[in-house]
Amino acid sequence: MSIKFKNVSYIYSPETPLAKKGLDNVSFELKDGSFNAIIGHTGSGKSTLMQHFNALIKPTTGKIEIAGTTITPETTNKNLKDLRRHVSLVFQFPETQLFENTVLDDIAFGPKNFGYDNEKALESAKYWLKKVGLSEEIGKRSPFELSGGQMRRVAIAGVMAYEPDILCLDEPAAGLDPEARKQMMALFSDYQKQGHTVILVTHNMDDVAKYADNVLVLEQGKLIKQDKPTEIFKDRKWLQEHHLEEPKASLFSGKLTNYKFTEMPLTINNLVKEIENNIKR
Ligand SMILES: Nc1ncnc2c1ncn2[C@@H]1O[C@H](COP(=O)(O)OP(=O)(O)OP(=O)(O)O)[C@@H](O)[C@H]1O
Ligand SMILES: [Mg+2]
Repeated sequence: MSIKFKNVSYIYSPETPLAKKGLDNVSFELKDGSFNAIIGHTGSGKSTLMQHFNALIKPTTGKIEIAGTTITPETTNKNLKDLRRHVSLVFQFPETQLFENTVLDDIAFGPKNFGYDNEKALESAKYWLKKVGLSEEIGKRSPFELSGGQMRRVAIAGVMAYEPDILCLDEPAAGLDPEARKQMMALFSDYQKQGHTVILVTHNMDDVAKYADNVLVLEQGKLIKQDKPTEIFKDRKWLQEHHLEEPKASLFSGKLTNYKFTEMPLTINNLVKEIENNIKR
């Protein structure tokens, strides 16, 4: 059940003077159980691409195969419930979508909607409330009394509570403090290790280096590269030409001109190992 995009293009407001290409002839395949990062400049098409994964928008041309469903320009909104049970999308700033009276009811809404009985939905909601790092007491409160960061956690718990096979996250950690971001990334990484597929839009190259096993780079709606982080980040000149940042560890290693590296370190742990090896020599 891999994910396949074949020549997918998307045009906003087609056949009007405001027509704008969001995606331009994009083809790729993602493996089951992989952790995928989507990177690229503002306006490169990341959110447009994300919205195709659960058919929130459909290709103007091309074809998508995902979780047993084929999506084409002709696909109607009927019969998409099964797809959305398996593929869920967490938008940028998901906290704006909370609506229930209590936090626990809000988290339980998704599971109930996808056929869990009340008891099981509540059980799952309690489990995920804890998993996202919130206390039982918060479960009884109104979601609107919480801080922005807590609301974000509730919104994410609400999607994870029905355990979609494919979890798509559009900048889930934007605006969170570093500690909260770390906890959230660890949560997604655990979720992948349990066998789920994760697709993450991020501007944070340290997270890409640490967690992703596959990276898609978008530029002006086109997929300009897809590869492992080591391959994506090894060509500094290419990154600069495309205005992409490097992970901090590789940026730092680039400034240590007297050191010899067996491979370019992408994470702090690998950077430390490489420096220690140089000192031993
Ligand atoms: N609703 C819309 N109507 C018209 N054009 C749009 C719409 N949404 C996005 N676009 C355009 O499509 C292109 C891709 O936008 P998209 O939001 O997918 O980029 P992005 O990579 O997610 O950017 P960001 O990093 O800022 O979130 C941009 O040129 C954008 O202006
Ligand atoms: Mg976006």
